[in-house]
Parts: sequence; C-alpha cells; structure tokens
Amino acid sequence: MNKKILVTGGAGYIGTHTCIALHAAGYDIVVYDNLSNSSREAINRVSSLIGQSIDFIEGDIRDAESLKQVFSSHHFFGVIHFAGLKAVGESVAQPLKYYDNNVSGTITLLEVMSEYDVKNLVFSSSATVYGDPERLPIDENSPRSCTNPYGQSKLTVEHILEDLAVSDASWNLIPLRYFNPVGAHPSGQIGEDPNDIPNNLMPYISQVAVGKLEKLSIFGNDYPTTDGTGVRDFIHVTDLAQGHVAALNYLQQQASSKSSSGTTSSVGFLPINLGSGKGTSVLDLVAAFTKVSKQPIPYQFAARRAGDIASCYASAGRAKGLLKWQAELSITDMCQDTWRWQSMNPNGYNAT
Ligand code: NAD
Ligand code: UD1
Repeated sequence: MNKKILVTGGAGYIGTHTCIALHAAGYDIVVYDNLSNSSREAINRVSSLIGQSIDFIEGDIRDAESLKQVFSSHHFFGVIHFAGLKAVGESVAQPLKYYDNNVSGTITLLEVMSEYDVKNLVFSSSATVYGDPERLPIDENSPRSCTNPYGQSKLTVEHILEDLAVSDASWNLIPLRYFNPVGAHPSGQIGEDPNDIPNNLMPYISQVAVGKLEKLSIFGNDYPTTDGTGVRDFIHVTDLAQGHVAALNYLQQQASSKSSSGTTSSVGFLPINLGSGKGTSVLDLVAAFTKVSKQPIPYQFAARRAGDIASCYASAGRAKGLLKWQAELSITDMCQDTWRWQSMNPNGYNAT
C-alpha cells in the first residue's frame, strides 16, 4: 500500500506532532506550509527528533500551480489538511482573510487532489462546529451551528466535503473534530508557540507560570458547572496526533479491502470526534498546572467571554469503535509536557 502522505500545515502546532507520529507509524511525509503561523525552526526540530530531514515545501494552499507541482512530483495516497488560520477574534475582525484561507484554500486543494486522483483526505475540523451543544457528551450527529467566521469556515468546509462525497462516491473524507488540544512533545522540543498574548487557556496559564504574564483572568465563575467555571475536553496533542495516524490507517484498510473485494463502496463523508470524553473545569486545570509546575498562578475572575459556552466534551465512541483510537494521557501529563516545553522555550521557537 502506498504510504506517502501530503501534510498541509505540517509546520504548525498539531502538524509537527502529527508528522512525528506518522513517521513512527511508517508513513512517508511531505510537508507543505506557507509558514504564516510557524517557522523553519519547527521543521528543523521535527527533523532532528525523527533523525532524518523532512521533505518540506514552502507554499500556499491557495496557489494551485504550486500544489500541482507537488502532486506531479509525488504519488500520494492521501492528504492530511491542517493548513488554515485559527484565531477566533481575528476571524471576527478579518472574515475575508479567514474565508479565503480556510475555505478557498481548501477548495483549491480539493480541485488539485481531484485532478491527480488523490481522493483520501483527513481534515482538521473542530468541536466549534457544534456551537452551544444541546446535549452532553457531544456525538457526531449533534446539530451544527457557528457564531464566528472561524467556526463558519470549518463548518463550510464540512458542507463542501459532504457535497463532494455525494457528487462522487470515490472520495474518502474524514473531518476530525478536535476538542481542546493542549500539551507538547515529551522531549520539550516542540509545542504551541502563539503569536502575541495567547487567547486560549493552556498557553495563557503556562505563560503566567513562567512569569511572562502577570495573572490569568478566568472568564466567568457563574456557569452551571461544578465550580462555576467553563468545562472543556482537553486532549493531549500527542494523543491527537495518534488519532490522525488511526484515521489514515482506517483509510488504508478501506482502500485495501476495496481493491481486494472489488467493491466500489467508499468511506464518503465520515466526521469523527477526537476528544478524551472527559470534562475539566478552568479551575481544575489551574490547580493541576500549579501542582505540576510548582509555580504560583495568580488569577482573578472576570466577565464571561463573548461566544463562550458553559460545557463542552466529546462522545468519543465513534473514534474508539471505527479507528480503535482513544485518548490515553491525563490532565497531569498535559500540564507536565506543556510546562517542559514552556520552561525550556520561554520565547517559543524564537528563543536564543
Ligand atoms: P497552527 O497555526 O499552529 O498550524 C497551521 C499551519 O498552517 C501553520 O503552520 C500555518 O503556517 C499553515 N498555514 C496557514 N494558512 C496556510 C495556507 N494558506 N497555506 C499553507 N499553509 C498555511 O494551528 P494548529 O493549532 O496546528 O491547527 C491546525 C489545524 O487544526 C487548523 O486548521 C486549525 O483550525 C485546526 N484546529 C485547531 C485547534 C487548536 O486548538 N489548535 C482546534 C480545532 C481545530
Ligand atoms: C476556543 C475557541 C474555539 C476554538 C478553540 C481551539 C472561542 C470563543 N472559542 O475554544 O473556536 O476551536 O479555542 O482550541 O475563542 N479561559 C479563561 N481565561 C483565558 C482563556 C480561556 O478563563 O484567558 C476559559 C474560557 O472562557 C473557556 C476555557 O477557558 O471556558 C477554554 O478556553 P479556550 O482555551 O480559549 O478554548 P475554547 O473556548 O474551548
């Protein structure tokens, strides 16, 4: 079976961890990234962790000619598509930038895939497509709705993938709906490197712990949760990376049973949650991080953040049943690995 995979956005936070997991699982990877939110240093570190240089192409998914060059030089089994922009606040201020990158960019990628008859795709979707959930845990059949352009761009791509699967039964399309990815590689060499002040909870906590930020504001302590703070399903990024390997393995099995049985049935559009299935509150995470880092994490309660929901956690049954995958690492592991990365690289990849 052909094990060559194109990884768009492979220089980013989740992409770098997934490249390591793919390499360990015997996949042959080509990374395609425009470095708009990442650096060559991240690629260098992945190369040194896997002990061989990464096949890296600097390019934009909106650039069809550049993509065609890549597809004509390599014979891919499929694509893992991470490339995209992800800052919710920025997407509200600059919606066109988000629709252009995330939606137009994906359409261009799909057109080139179609032209080269590469029809296996794993796409980075998000639990944000569930909006404010009607029931918990959230399963894949829950209604979808979004309140910001970032979320809309993910939902729109999901709709495009659904339509594509209906139009042509040879597509195999798995959107993975990530819950809250946190943590870092256990080596401390790669991790999340946010630009400016982080918007998300874990990087904010770790920057307070390392002394870069003064104190955490906890957005809301009056939610209908155990302690009044928001509840989320945090998932270690290395578990998440394994989830991508499991999704690709699934596509490979489907492709090989299709060719051996001569049937024409395909995967079609198959969304799968990647979460731990457990909810953790903001205060629980602060307490776990304080224990691991042995640093004080001063905080204050502040008003709820616009667009936030009270609780969000996954039903992880489909991933377990179909992909034979489940999250293994604990909140303590997530805090330990985040802290190792943060303390070894207080200024991220730019540190000297
Ligand atoms: P990231 O910003 O670290 O990685 C995205 C990568 O894509 C970056 O290296 C960036 O340079 C590249 N990129 C962006 N636009 C591109 C373009 N037009 N052409 C080529 N490369 C481009 O983000 P991440 O946290 O690793 O997220 C990966 C994917 O997962 C994104 O699509 C994101 O929306 C999605 N996602 C992330 C989270 C999260 O919490 N991190 C949650 C749900 C979904
Ligand atoms: C946010 C995005 C979501 C995106 C996800 C990626 C919003 C509204 N939602 O989700 O679209 O898919 O990131 O991981 O931005 N919190 C604080 N103080 C902080 C930061 C966060 O109290 O400084 C709280 C939040 O109110 C929330 C929890 O921590 O209750 C988690 O927040 P965050 O890490 O930003 O993730 P989400 O809100 O789940």
